[in-house]
Amino acid sequence: MRSGAVEARGLVKRYGHSTVLDGITFEARAGECLAILGPSGCGKTTALRCVGGFIRPDSGAVLIGGEDVTAAPPFRRQIGMVFQSYALFPHLSVFENVAFGLRVRGSSQAEVAERVGRALDMVRLAGLGDRVPKQLSGGQQQRVALARALVYAPRVLLLDEPLSNLDARLRVEMRTEIRSLQQSLGLTSIYVTHDQEEALGISDRVMLMRAGRVEQVGTPWEIYNRPATPFAAAFVGAANIVAAEVVAVSPGRARLRIAGAETDAVAGGHEAAGNPVWAVIRPENLAVEPSPDEGAASGALPAAVRSVTMLGPVLRIDADLADGASVAATLHHAGTPSGLRRGERVSLRAAPEHIVVMRRAPGEQPPGR
Ligand SMILES: Nc1ncnc2c1ncn2[C@@H]1O[C@H](COP(=O)(O)OP(=O)(O)O)[C@@H](O)[C@H]1O
Ligand SMILES: [Mg+2]
Repeated sequence: MRSGAVEARGLVKRYGHSTVLDGITFEARAGECLAILGPSGCGKTTALRCVGGFIRPDSGAVLIGGEDVTAAPPFRRQIGMVFQSYALFPHLSVFENVAFGLRVRGSSQAEVAERVGRALDMVRLAGLGDRVPKQLSGGQQQRVALARALVYAPRVLLLDEPLSNLDARLRVEMRTEIRSLQQSLGLTSIYVTHDQEEALGISDRVMLMRAGRVEQVGTPWEIYNRPATPFAAAFVGAANIVAAEVVAVSPGRARLRIAGAETDAVAGGHEAAGNPVWAVIRPENLAVEPSPDEGAASGALPAAVRSVTMLGPVLRIDADLADGASVAATLHHAGTPSGLRRGERVSLRAAPEHIVVMRRAPGEQPPGR
């Protein structure tokens, strides 16, 4: 398949007085899967539909394979689209559901048979062509929808929360299958989801959106390990977002004061002594140690255990820092009870490279999820 890059430039979309897309620019490179991630209502579907041609932006441009398609209707864009509701024809067989668009375009009988056969093979539904949708499971129905999008050999595949109606286990299975198909076809894809794990798991790059704007773009690794903002840190995975002050800066390092104790972090470049900042630490990067008394001197944070929760593979420790801030740590327990008790005093420690420093305005509150 000839896969094309997608470029969206300065897309603006307003409904009445509300600005749903506030001039967003993004790109899905040829052959990559770009996940568009963000909370409900942030504009993901609107952005995707602008690319597909189902919504005309108020301003901005969409290019596919370098060609400006901003004014082109969907069927001229050579895109395949998969929706959350599978949007299958209930009275038509699987074969005819997939064949429908080809027949409308007047493809020959032989071409229809050949193309539909190939598409059903790709989604592992060969042999089920005679069934009607209600004789299929949810996962199989979504595969029919996927086959229907692939049957035209599109240049770009657009998927809008395609797995939201499936149960958790099937979602992971289908996600893996879609990713493997997308990679083997080298098919440029844009995958919209509000599920952060799905976005990280399916894509080459993630575009995180917030209220009609792009919050951060990066590889799944960058988005998780180098969140650019407190919102990004809180939306993707779990994060302790703790108020801190910069004590001193040396090349590559910032010394932070957190709840009266000091610890080193990798400097982001914008720190200066005296600045208020956020220190962002993932729970799995926070070690819990006994011996709280040397804490302040050794770069660890003194804390008191509030609760210990067994979560299967990990233990979750909730603890309070000296200033009352609450933090969470997850520990691999190796099958041995931790012995930590409620009320116990401990030291919390994170390696400098696991502390991400972000700007904080004086008095700024950490984001809720
Ligand atoms: N046709 C429409 N008319 C008015 N408001 C709309 C319309 N479509 C979407 N919106 C609003 O635009 C915002 C973004 O919607 P949408 O792109 O569907 O978000 P998401 O897919 O991220 O959940 C929402 O606040 C939604 O209510
Ligand atoms: Mg949506």
